[in-house]
Amino acid sequence: MVEKKKILAIGSDHAGYELKTLIIHFLESLGYKVQDYGAFSSLSVDYPDVAHPLAAAIVNHTHDFGILICGTGNGVNMAANKHKGIRSALCWNKDIAKFAIEHNNANIIALPARFIDFITAKEIIETALFSGFEAGRHQLRVDKINC
Ligand code: RB5
Repeated sequence: MVEKKKILAIGSDHAGYELKTLIIHFLESLGYKVQDYGAFSSLSVDYPDVAHPLAAAIVNHTHDFGILICGTGNGVNMAANKHKGIRSALCWNKDIAKFAIEHNNANIIALPARFIDFITAKEIIETALFSGFEAGRHQLRVDKINC
């Protein structure tokens, strides 16, 4: 088991706010430092306004790893993946999360708050944090993602 992702960033829109709050408490209880990029209430916000600053901070190495949350996970995922160097993976169970790290070297996971519960979210996050990129043939493929 590897665990090199110590300084975490998290963000959500209104649909992910409640799950984000639970996840922050969970991660802090495990000793992680977590930077919260909002939203800071359940009032409606536009997911790109949260996803873009977080993704930019991952690109410039302010944080080791990011967690983005919206209703489906798709909106934050799409916005984050516009940033060169971001590999954001939509994850709805721990097996998807495992391969997102091992094969795709994901540096952000996007969670669908309206389609997973807190227990599943914790499983996904723990799996992502304790999985490692396999490199090798996967490195060659990851290198071809940017165009
Ligand atoms: C908000 O209603 C919803 O559209 C948003 O959370 C997300 O699912 C978009 O992709």
